Amino acid sequence: MKKYHKLTENAVKPEGFWGKLMIRSMNRGHHELTDWALEHFPIESGSVLLDVGCGGGRTVEKLCQKVGSGKVYGIDYSELCVEKARKLNHKNILCNKAVITQASVSALPFEAEKFDGVTAVETYYFWPDKLGDLREIARTLKSGGRLLLVFEMLADENDPDRWTAVEKRLNIKAVSRKEIATMLERAGYQNIRTHVKSGTTWLCAIAEKE
Ligand SMILES: C[S@@+](CC[C@H](N)C(=O)[O-])C[C@H]1O[C@@H](n2cnc3c(N)ncnc32)[C@H](O)[C@@H]1O
Repeated sequence: MKKYHKLTENAVKPEGFWGKLMIRSMNRGHHELTDWALEHFPIESGSVLLDVGCGGGRTVEKLCQKVGSGKVYGIDYSELCVEKARKLNHKNILCNKAVITQASVSALPFEAEKFDGVTAVETYYFWPDKLGDLREIARTLKSGGRLLLVFEMLADENDPDRWTAVEKRLNIKAVSRKEIATMLERAGYQNIRTHVKSGTTWLCAIAEKE
């Protein structure tokens, strides 16, 4: 049990031995979830994309396969994640198709209106200032650019204790469709859509910058 706790605690900001294991586990464990969510997020060839909280870099790798002549940026505030994501994407980095940088979602090191799309898989729960951070992402999106938020922890009013243990341990909150739609609206996004995969607790939200 202690080992399981050390592993899950490293979802917040992977570091050290348990962080390495967590990164490996996230790259494997979020693969199907990410593929499902990307089905709702069409990507045009030539797009310039950003993956926020890129972890071990598997989403950056997936996006590189979809952007054709475009480019994919990844950021994560964990030094270890940046190292591992760079390793996984070394060929894409060598040919200047991917760039991975250590940074916080709250202060993205990019000029305004740079990206056609931004993705964020299983990371929103940890952001320190969710409304401000959604606005910071909007700053970097082009007009009409889209944000994809992906969650494995859908809050369910019929099963309120579903996530209690992990919520307490990591000091986070599962997310409901309504909550995320409201936050995106408050942050100034439009055309907000949410999808839940039936039979699972998977949720994704897509929203557009005006
Ligand atoms: C559960 S992991 C998900 C990683 C990856 N997106 C995936 O699907 O495998 C959460 C990631 O968000 C990153 N993260 C958390 N808070 C962050 C913040 N404020 N700024 C940037 N990255 C953050 C963590 O370092 C971690 O890599």
